[in-house]
Parts: sequence; structure tokens; C-alpha cells
Amino acid sequence: MTQSNPRISKAVIPAAGLGTRFLPATKATPKEMLPVVDKPAIQYVVEEAVAAGLSDVLMITGRNKRPLEDHFDRNYELEEALSRKGDESRLKAVQASSDLATMHYVRQGDPRGLGHAVLCAAPHVGDQPFAVLLGDDLIDPRDPLLSRMVDVREREGGSVIALMEVDPSQIHQYGCAAVEPTADGDVVRVTQLVEKPERAEAPSNLAIIGRYVLDPAVFAILRETEPGRGNEIQLTDALQKLAADEKAGGPVHGVVFKGRRYDTGDRGDYLRAIVRLACEREDLGPEFRDFLRSYVTEEMQRN
Ligand code: UTP
Repeated sequence: MTQSNPRISKAVIPAAGLGTRFLPATKATPKEMLPVVDKPAIQYVVEEAVAAGLSDVLMITGRNKRPLEDHFDRNYELEEALSRKGDESRLKAVQASSDLATMHYVRQGDPRGLGHAVLCAAPHVGDQPFAVLLGDDLIDPRDPLLSRMVDVREREGGSVIALMEVDPSQIHQYGCAAVEPTADGDVVRVTQLVEKPERAEAPSNLAIIGRYVLDPAVFAILRETEPGRGNEIQLTDALQKLAADEKAGGPVHGVVFKGRRYDTGDRGDYLRAIVRLACEREDLGPEFRDFLRSYVTEEMQRN
């Protein structure tokens, strides 16, 4: 267990999954590159890390993930063309993604699970606490979660996970936490974690969502963690060991998130994210809301 409590500066973004729920769109394109209005989903995630003060970003990538690297790199040809045309606003938009953060990449090889993806970050992260942001999980920029988690880690040490109440019928799709309350209303102490439990076996309706602040002790545990559910090395299994044994690198706390979050790897949630974020945009929102109003009216008349 790390004794000191250094400030967190590194973010790890696993983005090496196969994205099977979004086939065929993800056959040759990473799901993280699917546009949410006019930015790829992954850019929101990197922007969130930077907003929480983490400007060293390591992305875990795999086959077909080259566009992720290109998106955060300069595109001189395009920049020159826009600059010749005097299109300053688009030029700024193109440069924004390459100026955001210091980006690093490592390939996972075979996608052997989220735990294995996080383990690929060990040489880059070293013996420091670090954040993990899942590349397909979009937290609304107006509902800050990661900075709250960083505060909790700085106060409590150990690791911090993000939890969200879900309908009990949905809990089998998530990692699930048994918790005890703390003096802070939105912070709980995690006593047990189970990956994708059946509804009857779930210890609560608190689901793990894709933000973590982890103690580097997790790496040693991941190295020993056998493949679990789905024959994948599960991050939840390693966190369960930390939660159960403070000496191994615990404790594990949870921040209960009540804001807006979208799983952009799920088709329904992806569509909801686009509609909401488009409605709220100053440039597109007014016209799009008018369209939605008349569309909904037509639908209601038909039914
Ligand atoms: P998911 O469970 O969403 O899996 O992974 P997936 O393969 O990406 O998508 P589906 O279920 O087939 O549609 C959760 C997160 O963990 C990353 C994914 O990129 C995603 O951000 N991940 C998962 C890895 O980086 N490597 C893995 O081996 C597995």
C-alpha cells in the first residue's frame, strides 16, 4: 500500500474493447470515435480528465483503434486548408483535440478484459495513484464527478469508485457494490463487490460506472487475478480484494453519482446522449428542439 498521498496527475482510458453491441458500425471504427453531436465520444472523456486536472493521458488501444491516435494528433493538411479559407472557428475546433492533453498510447494486444487493460498501464503509471475513465462512458460535463473522487482519495487514501443507483432489474449488467454509509451523504465505504450479479444475488442496486481513482496496489493484485466472468480479467474482482483487505491496498470508497451519464457503447443510451446534448447546444438546440416538438406531436397524434 502506498503510504504517501501524492496528487493525482495521470489518467488511463481503456478503449481496447471490441464494441460488439454496436456492430456493424464498429467493424472498422472504434466505438469511441462515434460522434456525439459533432465530437467523438472519446473527446468528451479526455476533456473530463483535463477538467479534473489530469493532463497526462494514457489510452489503452488495440486493433482498429488507429483513428483514436489520429484524432488527438495534429492534422497539418487540414489545418492549412482551413487556414487558407480563413475558417477560424473550424480551425480552432480541429486544433482543440490535439492541444488538450499529453497523450500516450499502449496496445493491449488481446482484449482480455478491463482488469487486463488497466494492468497494461502499470509501466506508465508507476507507484502513483491514478484515474481510470472508460472510453465509452460519458459523464455530462455539467455534473463533475471525477474531481469529487480525487478529493475523496486525497482525504481517505486507497481507491475510489463511482456508483449509481439503477433499477434492480438492470443490476445484472453492472458490477455491484455492498456499502456502508459515511458522514458524507454522497460517499460510502465499499465492503463487497460482485461483477454482474443475478438480481436475487445482488447486494444492492448500486452499480459501478466507468470512473475510478485507484491506488497503485491494484497492479499487484491484477497480476494475480485469474480470469473471471466471461473468461476476462475483471477489474471488479481486483477491487473486491482491495475492499476486503485494507492491508492489500484498501480501503475502497464509493462516490454515489446522481448526475447525467450515458453509456455510448449502448445504442439506446447513445441516441439519448445525442438528443440531450444537441438540444442544449446554443447553435443547434433551438432548431432541433422545434423539430423534436413537432415530431413528438405527430407521434402522439398517430397513437
Ligand atoms: P465493455 O464491457 O463495454 O466491452 O468494456 P466492449 O468490448 O468495449 O463492448 P461490447 O460489450 O462488446 O459492446 C468496458 C470498457 O473497457 C474497455 C472497453 O474499451 C470499454 O471502454 N475494455 C474492455 C478494454 O480496454 N479492454 C478489454 O479487454 C475489455
